[in-house]
Amino acid sequence: MTYLGVDYYPEHWPKEMIDEDLQGIKELGANIVRIGEFAWHLMEPEEGQFDFSYFDHVLDKVKEQGLSVMFGTPTATFPAWLAHKEPSILSVDENGQTRVFGGRRQYCFNSDIYREYAGRITRKLVEHYSSEEAIISWQVDNEFGHEGSDMCYCDQCHSKFQQYLAEKYSSVEALNEKWGTIFWGQTYNDFSEIPAPKPTVTTHNPSLKLEWARFRSFSVNSFTHEMTEIVREAKGSHQDITTNVSGGFFDKWFDHAENVKPMDYVSYDNYPVWGGLEKPVPPEAIAMTHDFNRGLKDQNYWIVEELMGAQGHDVIGYLPRPDQAKMWSYQAFAHGCNNMLYFRWRGMTKGAEQFCYGVVDHDNVYGRKYKEVQSLFTDIQQYERVLESRIESEAAVLYDYDNIWSWRSQIQSKDFDFNEELLRMYRPFYKRNIPIDVIPADRDFSQYKVVVVPVMQMMDESLAERLRSFASGGGTVLFSFRTGLKGKDNNLRLGEVLPGLVRDLTGVRVEEIESLTKEHALELRGEGDFAQTSGTVSVWRDLLVAETAEVLYHYQDQFYEDYAAVTKNEVGKGSVYYIGGGLNEAPLDQMAEQILEERQIEYIDSPEDVEVYRREVDGTSYLFVMNHSPYVKSFDGRQLQPYASEIIKKS
Ligand code: GAL
Repeated sequence: MTYLGVDYYPEHWPKEMIDEDLQGIKELGANIVRIGEFAWHLMEPEEGQFDFSYFDHVLDKVKEQGLSVMFGTPTATFPAWLAHKEPSILSVDENGQTRVFGGRRQYCFNSDIYREYAGRITRKLVEHYSSEEAIISWQVDNEFGHEGSDMCYCDQCHSKFQQYLAEKYSSVEALNEKWGTIFWGQTYNDFSEIPAPKPTVTTHNPSLKLEWARFRSFSVNSFTHEMTEIVREAKGSHQDITTNVSGGFFDKWFDHAENVKPMDYVSYDNYPVWGGLEKPVPPEAIAMTHDFNRGLKDQNYWIVEELMGAQGHDVIGYLPRPDQAKMWSYQAFAHGCNNMLYFRWRGMTKGAEQFCYGVVDHDNVYGRKYKEVQSLFTDIQQYERVLESRIESEAAVLYDYDNIWSWRSQIQSKDFDFNEELLRMYRPFYKRNIPIDVIPADRDFSQYKVVVVPVMQMMDESLAERLRSFASGGGTVLFSFRTGLKGKDNNLRLGEVLPGLVRDLTGVRVEEIESLTKEHALELRGEGDFAQTSGTVSVWRDLLVAETAEVLYHYQDQFYEDYAAVTKNEVGKGSVYYIGGGLNEAPLDQMAEQILEERQIEYIDSPEDVEVYRREVDGTSYLFVMNHSPYVKSFDGRQLQPYASEIIKKS
């Protein structure tokens, strides 16, 4: 069964509205509601006084309508009495300011007291409903680490950080040596002297910053795993466990694949536009988030918050155009989402999310958005087998959180943005409508034909070796700038010519580098097949000398015209591209096309802004077609209306 539904907060409305609401939800074509994730106070109004009668009543009503339930454990919003009694649970920002009670997720992941209270409400709740057949899944907490909540500089975090380091390094001398604390005389005599990287004059040691990031990740993930373990012990065997991943995952301080390890499946909250944005993020950026979430556990995933109305806390932005949110849902289904709930049933009249519009607005009229969801639910139900089918990709994009945090500790170019650099390399393949997996670099990637490795400045021997055997066995690798710059301690290596451990693979050496801005792109000179394709670089440039590689682009400014900017090297049966800067789209498009042809990867031509995603089930192709533009487009002999989406079946 495909679960389709809405996020419902019955506690926000007068009790007598529940029948009418559930009726409306049922008529929408829903078979599930997600409830409960912010209702701790309702379940434990005073310390130790557990009361689930409100939700008992809700569940009775929900069951009358034959709906299933995803229940959220309420630990993202703790009750005021707890903050009042135990202020040490509150997290602290980098300036030492305690985050007061009032928003949400202001808890410190390293507070033992918080863990105790959170664990207790979680266990009580899950035990209470462990035999409830209607509850088919538990959602642990809500959007771990979102909205800056993954960072805390309180004293508990500081001392646990020191403990973490003491356990990791054999001695403080070993740490001094690894981090190079001789620089600026920062040598430590004891682990207790090591600071948390709060604001200082200039900047902290890069190894310290990276370890702090890893420690943040450990903090979030150990809290998550502790709560998940409690749910697992207490739940019924018919109930699964998930947690909802929020957007902006590359800007967070925890490793997401590690976070969701103990979950049965991943859930994602899909908001292609939020807050004051004037327009949605580009289609490829949305697509990439789906591929990332599918990649977390290498399996299809749920969306438990799909946007329907305009959203924002204090500032509201773009209103999704008629059929546009539906089209985003089709896109999600195309990329491996197999069950979907919309956020939220009805916008709330009070509280911080008055301007998070839902399927129904405050006027309580079942209008355009209601009908849009209804038509999607009706259409998509027929495709359960397609939605459940596995996506087999021949191309993958690799990322590594250590590498991302290393960049974050030193962005090097004022315009560097990891998301943009990843998308730069993802986009040309996305535009050719091939499935792409976005996966952690420590996964086995030997089964792919093409592996894209954007700005992997942190490289260890094992990754270099796996890439080497991948390329020599016939794979294509694409690197971009700064590859191989650093080791896993976030330091450079003496005597090593870049790109370091993969120099042989790329067939180039980096002689000099320059940080560029976005505003002033530099012109390149294309060679051979690329002579007619105009190339530019921005953000960064590596000045390359081709050792065994063929040059695809040279720089052409005074002083540097002998240096290469983009190269291709033959390695065994495969090839390795090196893209020495923030390259513009046209050359990347041409490269992607060449690579797909060389590696015999089938791709689909489509008009600009029309995305096509093929799913195969039992010899039948299902083409998910999404028109991301406000214009009529034609594809496969049909006219696609603005923001139209459909599934075309081909035997
Ligand atoms: C999500 C969150 C929801 C709600 C929503 C508003 O990030 O999980 O609880 O705040 O955003 O758009």
